[in-house]
Amino acid sequence: MFGSRLPGNPGNSVSAVVTGAGSGIGRAFALEIARRRGAVLCSDIDEAAAQLTADEIVAAGGRAWAVVCDVSKIAEVQKLARQAGEILPQPVNLVVNNAGVGAGGKPVGETPLTDWKWTLGINLWGVIHGCHVFAPLLRHQGHGGIVNVASTASYSAAPLMGPYNVSKAGVLALSETLAAELAGTGVKITALCPTLVKTNINANGRIVGDASKLFDRLMDRFGMAPDRVVRMTLDAHQRGDLYVMPQFDARLIWRAKRLMPRTYAMGAGLFNRLH
Ligand SMILES: NC(=O)c1ccc[n+]([C@@H]2O[C@H](COP(=O)([O-])OP(=O)(O)OC[C@H]3O[C@@H](n4cnc5c(N)ncnc54)[C@H](O)[C@@H]3O)[C@@H](O)[C@H]2O)c1
Repeated sequence: MFGSRLPGNPGNSVSAVVTGAGSGIGRAFALEIARRRGAVLCSDIDEAAAQLTADEIVAAGGRAWAVVCDVSKIAEVQKLARQAGEILPQPVNLVVNNAGVGAGGKPVGETPLTDWKWTLGINLWGVIHGCHVFAPLLRHQGHGGIVNVASTASYSAAPLMGPYNVSKAGVLALSETLAAELAGTGVKITALCPTLVKTNINANGRIVGDASKLFDRLMDRFGMAPDRVVRMTLDAHQRGDLYVMPQFDARLIWRAKRLMPRTYAMGAGLFNRLH
């Protein structure tokens, strides 16, 4: 179990930074890390939401603080690292690059470029900023880990999800690159690739038209609870797993794409014409 210790570093308890901690998966990461006796700096672009998560942790007897951080801005992520150094009781040894938004519903060519830039600015650049700032600190320490919240969209290439797919493919590639670069340094990298998780992502995002309604229906029916996804992810991170695909369909899509790429691409095209 994750416990209050990180392997290979028995003297230090978990000291975490979570981005997008005010809602959904990020909130669940913050709560679960605290439940496992870690200290958590909860950050979010919505400061009040981050504060609510921190207050909930403190009310339950845990250690948490809240700060505002827009991950799409490098200066704010650099400030987040400085605040982590000042606020957390020990140097940060777990970074969860979770903040993200949903966008989709239109094909490439009709999706406004403003939506492309907004999505890539948060989902991809936000994680690039988090890795750029925190990976050198962790490498220097020689222990700790980074969990990047990617998605099954990193590899599923579902139609009408261009900006989201591209952003999450980038997060997965970045995580795989970091895992290679940090191999043997004591720093672990995990990429979380879930399908549907019950959160506020649709309400907070820019998924338009029928795709938004379909997303809500599928989420209601098949969405996994965020706390379950997070427990599986922290356990996998503890084991040193790079990939976490918490649901059966996430693993099925991963295998189908690799074993039958042409059939998979035909199926995705058919789905686009029929739904
Ligand atoms: N919900 C799903 O089905 C699902 C599936 C796969 C991956 N994901 C990923 O999980 C992550 C968390 O999303 P969620 O589903 O919990 O959504 P959510 O909308 O419930 O939570 C996202 C949080 O990120 C914050 N945020 C948005 N823009 C930000 C910014 N620029 N800087 C900092 N914080 C910002 C929001 O304020 C919110 O608190 C995202 O990266 C998302 O892409 C979600």
